[in-house]
Amino acid sequence: MDPRRHLKEHLKDWKSWGVDAVPTRAEPTRGAPETAPRDAARPPTADGGLEVLRSEVAACTACVLHRTRTNTVFCSGRPSALMFVGEAPGADEDAQGEAFVGAAGKLLTKLLKEVGLSRDQVYIANVLKCRPPDNRPPEPEEAAACSGYLKRQIALVNPKVLCALGKHAAASLLGHEGAMKAVRGTWRLLDGRWATATYHPSYLLRSPGDTATVLADLRGAIEKLTSLGGTL
Ligand code: URA
Repeated sequence: MDPRRHLKEHLKDWKSWGVDAVPTRAEPTRGAPETAPRDAARPPTADGGLEVLRSEVAACTACVLHRTRTNTVFCSGRPSALMFVGEAPGADEDAQGEAFVGAAGKLLTKLLKEVGLSRDQVYIANVLKCRPPDNRPPEPEEAAACSGYLKRQIALVNPKVLCALGKHAAASLLGHEGAMKAVRGTWRLLDGRWATATYHPSYLLRSPGDTATVLADLRGAIEKLTSLGGTL
């Protein structure tokens, strides 16, 4: 194929994956390790695929959580038109290096099944990629240090619909600081993607009476995706 056409085809593919900038010079793949994550807020580039991002996260020392983690936790599931964002890894996720594998994760699997989805039809990430000790809530500076990673992850996964799980994810993703019941099931456009929120599965473990509400929110997310012509 003519090299210019070849390049054009590649650029078209990258654009459909959410890549909206291509570097004109090679960038180093590792930055100063003891400070901020390497330019975490920069737009994704052709070399910034999910695996590259995963290895940047694995080497991150941008906040104190790197000192106590066993593993960084990048995601679970597969790149999908429907992406969930939870809060932070817990003890099981820290041990296994995968998101939502503990009790809350098992409940999430059940909830997804209830609405006709399997875990590998969706993509699941967290606001924080490292476990806060004793599962304490993320500190603002920890969420800030990780936010560029989540932004890039969303751009690379390129979902049509995003769903925040719980109040910390709703705060990070949607900027919502109030009660969950005020934001759950509502929608807003975030950089061209529809985003909503629902209760966190850990909350449901304590308050199972809200299960029907979460199932309604999950069905709402699937309906939104279908209305946008997205498939799973
Ligand atoms: N809770 C979360 O928010 N994320 C996980 O990965 C596990 C539990």
